[in-house]
Amino acid sequence: MDPSILTFETPLEAAEACGDRTLAILEKAGRERGIATLAVSGGSTPRLMFQAMAKRSFDWSKVHIFQVDERCVPPDHQVSNFRMTKESLLDAVPIEQSRIHRIAGELAPEEGARLYIEDIRRTFKLGPGELPVFDVIQRGMGPDGHTASLFPGEPLIGDRTGIASAVDVDKPYIDKVMRYRVTLLPGVLERARYTLCLATGADKAESLHKVLKGPHAPMLFPSQIASPDMAWYIDKKAASLL
Ligand code: 6PG
Repeated sequence: MDPSILTFETPLEAAEACGDRTLAILEKAGRERGIATLAVSGGSTPRLMFQAMAKRSFDWSKVHIFQVDERCVPPDHQVSNFRMTKESLLDAVPIEQSRIHRIAGELAPEEGARLYIEDIRRTFKLGPGELPVFDVIQRGMGPDGHTASLFPGEPLIGDRTGIASAVDVDKPYIDKVMRYRVTLLPGVLERARYTLCLATGADKAESLHKVLKGPHAPMLFPSQIASPDMAWYIDKKAASLL
């Protein structure tokens, strides 16, 4: 199924709409299944969305929050995705510590990935070989078309069995402090009940055009990794080439 593309005047409007949709899906999941699972991305774009979500009155008691990916740095580091999420959302909403599932970026990447997989398996009560189905996976897109920490050319883009993995992003344009990461894998991204992608700004326009209008080549454009129900929340600058 083709993803829906929702275009907004400003990054703030895109962020608010994406946040509101996220909360609506979580509310329904909590009502229907008694538990609602959300995985959030890092970088800088989601900050506005998280701040908008934090302002809404919402019952967080059924929500478990996970990370789509993390840079291997301590949780209080300037480039930690967890730090950004904590500052903009977690510190501002009533969510129990036990429902916050952080990737331990302070550990060696393989160890961080191993513990994260264990946490996911426990929370989702997974049997051997099973993959989790998140209610919402919120994703972003880098100017090179990467999503999560799956960068163009990454062999893990072909993986359909794993839950999460350590990644070494050895690219000249990636700051060395952000080189080692832990990320959810494509089999999990594809199974999400809803994928909401938030991408804003002129530097995303070219990649967005290739991802949405170009031939299917997720190895080159990892943001093409899709789940059946997927929506893009973009601003008019990101949409300028569509
Ligand atoms: C990360 C991310 C990553 C992000 C994109 C977009 O750790 O880098 O989770 O996949 O979504 O890089 O980042 P921006 O929002 O900063 O452009």
